[in-house]
Amino acid sequence: MKLKEKVAVITGAAQGLGAHFAVGLAEEGANVLVADILDGGEVVQRINENGGRAAAMICDVSDEKDCNKMIETAESLFGGVDILVSNAAIFSELKLQSMMDITVEEWDRTMAVNIRGVWFSAKAAIPAMQKRGGGSIINIATNRALIGVPMMLHYDASKGAVLAMTRAMAAELGDKNIRVNAVAPGLTMSEQVLKREGIAERNSSIVNKRPLKRTQTPEDLIGSVVFLASDASEFITGQTIIVDGGSVMR
Ligand SMILES: NC(=O)c1ccc[n+]([C@@H]2O[C@H](COP(=O)([O-])OP(=O)(O)OC[C@H]3O[C@@H](n4cnc5c(N)ncnc54)[C@H](O)[C@@H]3O)[C@@H](O)[C@H]2O)c1
Repeated sequence: MKLKEKVAVITGAAQGLGAHFAVGLAEEGANVLVADILDGGEVVQRINENGGRAAAMICDVSDEKDCNKMIETAESLFGGVDILVSNAAIFSELKLQSMMDITVEEWDRTMAVNIRGVWFSAKAAIPAMQKRGGGSIINIATNRALIGVPMMLHYDASKGAVLAMTRAMAAELGDKNIRVNAVAPGLTMSEQVLKREGIAERNSSIVNKRPLKRTQTPEDLIGSVVFLASDASEFITGQTIIVDGGSVMR
């Protein structure tokens, strides 16, 4: 087990990729706090039934008080925080639309969750990680921010900011022994993505163009998150692992 005795906080983990990260980190021995605006009880049950240790709490990452509470909860339940996976985002609910049609409200909400949420979560976790002598922050971005894809300008802008913040935070936090890295997935079949209209056609057009010609699943991402959380990556910071079957090269 690579993460025995470690404590991981995963935002947006009640479903989708975040839930897979929570299960994957718990399988490597981490105690896991599942934080989301939705109830994460099912994920906790799954982890606990498999012999792991997990708890869930409601947390809106765009609210600083909620983020502080999230870290306090992890400290009081599990004794500290070593790993933060900033995965929560406004994503699957966004429709593909021209930049001409995005509303200001939708733009601002996307930025509040996807950017400010990453900042607040890290800000809350840093003092807790310092108490443990360091830690690992993993921000979930997207390959879209690197490729240039039409029809989700607000989302892509927010994830571009996440990539920039990953590097800036890594530069600022290195002397505290806190590493900050990002994982940039390609289109991945999480529960909500699978429900999207026209997803099969969009996915097959992506699959056909990339070197590894198959559909990306949530399991494809767990290895990178575990690697960045573990001591196997102890001299890696400010980096982005692109997990997309090579799409970014096309
Ligand atoms: N699935 C993909 O194709 C894909 C590709 C690239 C990147 N990503 C990124 O991976 C992450 C997870 O994606 P997913 O497919 O599971 O998406 P999703 O929309 O199903 O999951 C997002 C989770 O974040 C939670 N959330 C939303 N607002 C929140 C808030 N204010 N506070 C706390 N939690 C909040 C949601 O309740 C949900 O559980 C996101 O950051 C997304 O941008 C996904």
